Amino acid sequence: MNEKIEGFSKLTKLQKIQLLLSKLDLSDAQTKIKEDLLKSFWHVDPATQKVIDEFTENALSNFHLPFGIIPNALINQKNYFVPMVIEESSVVAASARSFNFWYERGGIKAKILGRTKLGQVHFKFFGDKFLLFEQFESLKPSWLEELKPIISNMEKRGGGLKSLSLLDKTELEADYFQLWAEFETCDAMGANFINTVLEFLGKKITAHFAQSKVIMCILSNYTPDSRVLTEVSCTLKELNDPSFQMSGKDFAVKILEAIKISKVDKYRATTHNKGIMNGIDAVVIATGNDFRAVEACVHTYASRDGVYRGLSDATIDWNHQSIDDSIFTFKLEIPMALGTVGGLTALHPLAKLSLDILGRPSSDELMMIVASVGLAQNFAALRSLVTSGIQKGHMKMHLMNILNHYEASEDEVRLCKEYFANEVISFNAVREFLTQLRNKHVEHQFISTESRS
Ligand code: MEV
Repeated sequence: MNEKIEGFSKLTKLQKIQLLLSKLDLSDAQTKIKEDLLKSFWHVDPATQKVIDEFTENALSNFHLPFGIIPNALINQKNYFVPMVIEESSVVAASARSFNFWYERGGIKAKILGRTKLGQVHFKFFGDKFLLFEQFESLKPSWLEELKPIISNMEKRGGGLKSLSLLDKTELEADYFQLWAEFETCDAMGANFINTVLEFLGKKITAHFAQSKVIMCILSNYTPDSRVLTEVSCTLKELNDPSFQMSGKDFAVKILEAIKISKVDKYRATTHNKGIMNGIDAVVIATGNDFRAVEACVHTYASRDGVYRGLSDATIDWNHQSIDDSIFTFKLEIPMALGTVGGLTALHPLAKLSLDILGRPSSDELMMIVASVGLAQNFAALRSLVTSGIQKGHMKMHLMNILNHYEASEDEVRLCKEYFANEVISFNAVREFLTQLRNKHVEHQFISTESRS
């Protein structure tokens, strides 16, 4: 198993599968089962499969995840169906429940706070830095002129390179400087455009400054000025929901306390933000965007003041005449860079469909939708956490996974659902209940066979 495998990427898909399986120490029958399994996930249409294979190197098959929908996602008074790709059973249900709750209370409001994308040429300069700055300023106009053919298409769409400056970073690292570039990339996420511009600028640094060494040219996935704000608000009276089993005021205060904890305790902040990302990632994936970039950006933002904190905020604007009329506001301000053109958005058939379902949004609109789902998801999680606890809803959704694990029949599923409607669900409890059902079934069969004979 330790021998190095040469030329794997040059094999056909079937050869790759066969080579891989031949290394797994399987019987012939097991090898056949595994090969058939991989093939069974190939798309029925070979042309579609080819498109999917080309998204990556050494593709053997497809890994399915559920494609779900949230109905009634009312955002800025527009009612969306929002597609989500996620394997965690409770996430779509939680978002849907939250959107449903806020639909009745005016929906989610969202606005774009900025759209600037960033990139840097990281380089070392070993000469006189005053000369570097002076020469940079005199060379910059000609560099911008030479960049025109590269950026003209983006400029036609209203975007381009918005500013270019030289930064002295020598306080952080000896001889370290940066070309700092700000971009408008319209409806594209812009990674290719930004990196092309930066590599051009990197070459200019090398060509003009003999005492320089370009280390790398790359966009930054941290885009604090490409940011969206989403919020919901209602009176405390409107939070008097029987399912909370507490007054609207007590519920709102508990939410505020939960948010405060997420601001001061990094262990809770991580889980708090994970809940937000449950919603965000699912829509980012469904629309063919880069969820790793969004994750990286969001977590850097969460620690922007040096401490990792929860991303959402809540306030109560107390009305001193009537507590019931006080206003509860729940907010999420979050940076991200998304595209609705380019990348996978037009290539992956389901990403294309997701964007159709959303009504072909601009990247701004998509940012507002994605952030709103993050807000809805966070509200849903906190709502459960400060009232019934998370396990009730979570395990209810997880019940089907447990039943599938034990290959429960339709009758068993029905009986389990009835029984666990009022019981605490756990893996063990479900296993025990199923065992009892199955034993009873065998006993019953035994008795009926006995009585027949
Ligand atoms: C589970 O995937 C996410 C939660 O833990 C989020 C949270 O605790 O806020 C429920």
